[in-house]
Amino acid sequence: MNKKVVIITGSAKGIGKAISQRMVEEEYFVLLVDVDKKNGQVLEAAFGDGNAKFIPANISNENDVAELFRFVMDNYGRIDVLVNNAGIIRDHIIWKMTVDDFDEVIRVNLRGTWLMCREAAKIMRKQKNGRIINIASRAWLGNAGQSNYAASKAGIVGLTRVLALELGKYNVFVNTVAPGLIDTPLTQALPDDVKQKLIDTQPTKSIGKPEDVAHAVAFLSSDRTRFITGQILYVDGGKSVGAA
Ligand code: NAI
Repeated sequence: MNKKVVIITGSAKGIGKAISQRMVEEEYFVLLVDVDKKNGQVLEAAFGDGNAKFIPANISNENDVAELFRFVMDNYGRIDVLVNNAGIIRDHIIWKMTVDDFDEVIRVNLRGTWLMCREAAKIMRKQKNGRIINIASRAWLGNAGQSNYAASKAGIVGLTRVLALELGKYNVFVNTVAPGLIDTPLTQALPDDVKQKLIDTQPTKSIGKPEDVAHAVAFLSSDRTRFITGQILYVDGGKSVGAA
């Protein structure tokens, strides 16, 4: 494979789809990973042969992840960038949150990201080259109704920092992108009045686009950032600074 290879999880829609589009434009070969087979296949066809391949996998399943990395190495022989974007929400105030709500969010967001990082680390360490970009959320700083989600995303921040320490000497750099309110199927499911209230608390009084996150991921993937590791890049219209 002459092109650089990027794996992007949760790429069938929303932010992951925009990151995939951007990385195709950057001339990467894009491995689209998602549980959503229908949209994944549609996207593979839209990007065309030689640009992308869809691989169905559930990132929280250890066997799926092992199989995915085996397939990638057997067929493409390298992994330059891993973008851990797949994530879910199951929001409730804590006294209404079930153990299932907690377990499922931790399972996909944190365990899934950790499983993907572990397999990538084995390969990138040997390659002596690689970038891992983990998509967390501004919500790791705290959001009422998201005790499970904020904990999972705080876990991703901790994971990123540890991997920066463990992999730096192998020329593998690991960073987090923390989006704020972004217009995707995930937020489109919110009632209009709830969404408007969230927009009103933004310093920018606006909602971000998936492409805004994709630009940050493209930047952190580039060779120009070889001295940046273990960091959080917020793409949140300033919300992490405070509510306006
Ligand atoms: P989305 O719900 O629009 O898309 C998520 C994608 O991940 C879907 O295609 C889904 O099928 C896939 N997915 C879910 N579970 C999976 C699994 N176990 N294995 C493989 N794929 C799986 O979500 P959106 O909004 O695009 O979010 C992407 C990431 O950005 C998530 O990690 C989310 O937590 C984060 N984020 C989103 C924000 C927003 O405002 N939309 C704000 C901050 C962070």
